[in-house]
Amino acid sequence: MQLQGKRVLLAVTGSIAAYKAAHLTRLLVKEGAEVQIIMSTSALDFITPLTLSTLSKRPVYHQFHKNETGEWNNHVELGLWADLFIIAPLSASTLSKLAHGNSDNLLTATYLSARCPVMLAPAMDLDMYQHPSVRANLDTVEKHGNILLEAESGELASGLSGQGRMMEPEHILEKTIQLLKKSKDFEGKKIMITAGPTQETIDPVRFIGNHSSGKMGIALAKNLANRGAKIELILGPSQITISHPNIKISPVTSTHDMYKAAQAVHPQMDICIFAAAVADYAPADPAKEKIKKNEENMSIILKKNVDIAASLGAVKKDGQIHIGFALETNHEEENAQTKLKKKNFDFIVLNSMNDAGAGFKHDTNKVTIFHQSGKKQVSDLLPKSAIAELIIDTLKKQLDTEN
Ligand code: PMT
Repeated sequence: MQLQGKRVLLAVTGSIAAYKAAHLTRLLVKEGAEVQIIMSTSALDFITPLTLSTLSKRPVYHQFHKNETGEWNNHVELGLWADLFIIAPLSASTLSKLAHGNSDNLLTATYLSARCPVMLAPAMDLDMYQHPSVRANLDTVEKHGNILLEAESGELASGLSGQGRMMEPEHILEKTIQLLKKSKDFEGKKIMITAGPTQETIDPVRFIGNHSSGKMGIALAKNLANRGAKIELILGPSQITISHPNIKISPVTSTHDMYKAAQAVHPQMDICIFAAAVADYAPADPAKEKIKKNEENMSIILKKNVDIAASLGAVKKDGQIHIGFALETNHEEENAQTKLKKKNFDFIVLNSMNDAGAGFKHDTNKVTIFHQSGKKQVSDLLPKSAIAELIIDTLKKQLDTEN
């Protein structure tokens, strides 16, 4: 009984895959979870509340009030009651409402009131699932901090074959157990994460920057926030954003700004993760006016920037943990090992530009973790969310052995 005492809110929307919600309910209940079901009105066309209430052993809600008594189904209370909110299956229509903050029914109002992690298991036909508007909505809800359980591939109700099937209930159960087991394992921890690129001003219209998207740092922030940590995310200019009750974002532009923001919170932090790609040099004397195209050649004098990780590493307190990243193109291991020692990291995560799909911008990464003890861990090429999980699990092990 791996979910004993856990409260799961399971929302079912109008989709042919709604029948799978019955099986999922059974699996959750069998593992000891208390399951409260909410249905959208269109879900009623696919499966009856009687089936779901029998399996969950609780009344099923699908409207704001109870018909018989006129009593209110309090969506705020439901949202606060749950340890986890699963929406499975999630239809294109409800997805669009979630992405845009529409609360015209009990399910979507509860979603907006929920403070717990939310897992979304979409189910759609092949072309619907690939439609740019659906992809954009899926992107939006992910950026809002939800956990997206991408649809699986196989035969679809339309007879077409491809991606669109709701994730199998057994797989959702597995994800639920993993998440709820870890859901509070960083509670009480204050964690600073630097992420994204920095921009160093050349003149009012130009800067020196790099290709970091911020994806890796944001994936770490999301994983830790879902596991109960309070995150100070110091984020350089990035197209990606995230909103999560446990994440406070400080947007910054230059290395100097990033350093100031990091220095201000560092003394209160239990853990610091330096995932940002920080410029090592900045123009010594940025021009006040736009530089004109006069000479055939031009040079800009650069001055060394502060090394944020090294400076804060020098004042690291007993018990504080620092994790670094290294992005290398050559002598990868050697360079990473040098930075591990020089910057006083507890461990360093190396990503190499020589590995296809790793490093800047990609949704995937492949890393090698070097520990102070000399231990080394190598990952496969995985989505950045899975790499984040691996790094955080490594961190958790380190915390457990120290205590
Ligand atoms: O943002 P993405 O597109 O998802 O890409 C992720 C990433 C490749 C940016 C990230 O995973 C990564 O490797 N970040 C560190 C990149 C880097 O600049 O590494 P470095 O080897 O130059 O720096 C070593 C460490 O010192 C890093 O932890 C860095 O944050 C820190 N540093 C470096 C220079 C400096 N002035 N201040 C620092 O704090």
